[in-house]
Amino acid sequence: MPLQDTAEILWNEQQSTCYFKMGLRSPALARAAAPGQFVMVRVRDSTDPVLRRPFSIHNLLGEGERLRGFEILYKVVGRGTAILSELRAGEHVGVLGPFGNGFTCPEGLQNVFLVAGGIGIAPLYYLASLLESMGRGRPLWCTLFFGGRTYSDILCKEAFHVIGVDLRISTEDGSLGHKGLVTSLLKRELASGESPDIIYACGPEPMLKETFRIAASFDIPCQLSMESVMACGFGACLGCAIKGKGPGYLHVCTDGPVFDPSLLGW
Ligand SMILES: Cc1cc2nc3c(=O)[nH]c(=O)nc-3n(C[C@H](O)[C@H](O)[C@H](O)COP(=O)(O)OP(=O)(O)OC[C@H]3O[C@@H](n4cnc5c(N)ncnc54)[C@H](O)[C@@H]3O)c2cc1C
Ligand code: FES
Repeated sequence: MPLQDTAEILWNEQQSTCYFKMGLRSPALARAAAPGQFVMVRVRDSTDPVLRRPFSIHNLLGEGERLRGFEILYKVVGRGTAILSELRAGEHVGVLGPFGNGFTCPEGLQNVFLVAGGIGIAPLYYLASLLESMGRGRPLWCTLFFGGRTYSDILCKEAFHVIGVDLRISTEDGSLGHKGLVTSLLKRELASGESPDIIYACGPEPMLKETFRIAASFDIPCQLSMESVMACGFGACLGCAIKGKGPGYLHVCTDGPVFDPSLLGW
């Protein structure tokens, strides 16, 4: 059952050119959230803009009894996110969630690949933290393949490093890491004999399609977090429909956002 909260903004800090990280006080919502799930945020306490905007849970703030909220990591792309970027600590936003089906982590994982394109990094930090806590006391290797157009799209490097994630970076203009697409890095690593138990990915659809194609060619299961424009976030407007494998449609908000790609009509 999704929760509705008016969350205090704990911080809203610019990370890079057009990227911000916002900490929100909402212990109940943080307790309910799983990696890959998202919240719908009302960016202003008025009917303009009328629709809430979806954002992935990026990170939990605190643990156990001391869990006080969560973070979102967002890119300013239009009006809603521009309004969000101007809010200050101490102000409040309406949040609804958590929504959707997140990533699932089968027992016994030992070697995991994460693949992110641009702001697709947002849900993968919470997932990586969970994997890190699952791995305590036994080996669990986690490698992040992270691609962006340029160096300023590559966020949270240090945070991933601190929790023991191995990073492989690519940029299209060669300003950081390998020059080219992140999927070429992924393909190269798999071709060298690395064989992860699973690949989790989030990013633009062409990147997800190529990740699926590569994963299938190496016979590695994957889970993909998809995006679509969303009006409600909970199955009422049917605006987030995408083609399923069969004759029908899937809804990113209720069937996803994380999908087994074999169910998608690609
Ligand atoms: C499940 C889910 C999780 C998301 N998590 C994050 C996140 O963690 N961080 C983040 O920065 N963004 C995330 N997004 C995308 C984010 O919701 C949109 O960027 C945001 O709603 C845009 O609002 P806006 O008013 O600023 O832009 P608008 O003025 O509404 O649109 C500006 C441009 O962005 C495009 N756009 C709008 N919404 C989306 C969308 N959902 N997907 C792709 N393009 C869109 C529009 O087509 C337009 O070109 C997520 C989207 C979904 C569906
Ligand atoms: S966003 Fe309304 S049905 Fe999915």
